[in-house]
Amino acid sequence: MPILPRTAARRVAYDVDEFAVATPLAPDDLTVDVSRETTALPRPPRPRTIVIANQKGGVGKTTTAVNVAAGLALGGLRVLVVDMDPQGNATTALGIEHPEGMPGTYEALVDGVPLEDVMQRCPDIDGLWVIPATIDLAGAEIGLVAAVSRETKLRTALDAFLRGHHVDYILLDCPPSLGLLTLNALVAAQEIMIPIQCEYYALEGVTQLLRTIDLVKGRLNDALRLSTVLLTMYDARTNLSAQVAEQVRTHFPQQTLEVAIPRSVRVAEAPSYGQTVLSYHLASAGAQAYLKAAHEIAARGAAN
Ligand SMILES: Nc1ncnc2c1ncn2[C@@H]1O[C@H](COP(=O)(O)OP(=O)(O)O)[C@@H](O)[C@H]1O
Ligand SMILES: [Mg+2]
Repeated sequence: MPILPRTAARRVAYDVDEFAVATPLAPDDLTVDVSRETTALPRPPRPRTIVIANQKGGVGKTTTAVNVAAGLALGGLRVLVVDMDPQGNATTALGIEHPEGMPGTYEALVDGVPLEDVMQRCPDIDGLWVIPATIDLAGAEIGLVAAVSRETKLRTALDAFLRGHHVDYILLDCPPSLGLLTLNALVAAQEIMIPIQCEYYALEGVTQLLRTIDLVKGRLNDALRLSTVLLTMYDARTNLSAQVAEQVRTHFPQQTLEVAIPRSVRVAEAPSYGQTVLSYHLASAGAQAYLKAAHEIAARGAAN
């Protein structure tokens, strides 16, 4: 039998920065010592409600929502994620199971159940809570059709919640469509953050989203403004990523965060462990980038 050197399975080339880890990590290495890693972030004077939207699927909305939320919470802030997507991906990534029938966003929007009654604590990270979504939320578009003020259900629920609870950030993770769920999120937020994937047609669809924002601004929520654009799945080896990044920065010079989130296997695999990449592998390039994004967002908010 030929004796070949046993090499570790090669990770894809774009994870080059993570090659330093040659052997599979022991479970202990995957957990974060939160107390050690905490750096205090500035607290905003008022709670900031940020909707993460882009009607394109797969651009990194959910990944951004949970990892920015984790970064803010590790910075000592109190953060609530509202999962507005029936897929419940944000709920999963924050370590919460979401079987059909479990109360969550649907009950809050359609039945008027108070948010505190459906809220759950993220098991891995202090100061991070989630309003979970189950597949039942897919029925909300229909459940709300005949409802009075159906676009303002989330805003009403959050207003009531904020009267009795202290949180610094509320991040709303939207489904990939501009339906009633996204509309509720756009009406409830003051800020919008658009994740843009560094690929062809990146800006296509953003134009439509901007039109929708203008409509919402004019009619339902004057406070809404595009505060943040985040480049996601950036691949430093390709000209394409650099070109898209440049195009986006030209379009949104004020809003685009300095940090771009690199394409990273760690980021992609964290949700399958029910974790954010920050709790899963804090040293990875993806986790560090999201941490930096959270810091930039907090710093900008403090300056406002
Ligand atoms: N920086 C990244 N590196 C590698 N994979 C990523 C990255 N960001 C997101 N992904 C993966 O891309 C897919 C789509 O991301 P997701 O956040 O679910 O997008 P959306 O919520 O916009 O549909 C997911 O499988 C996710 O794990
Ligand atoms: Mg999503």
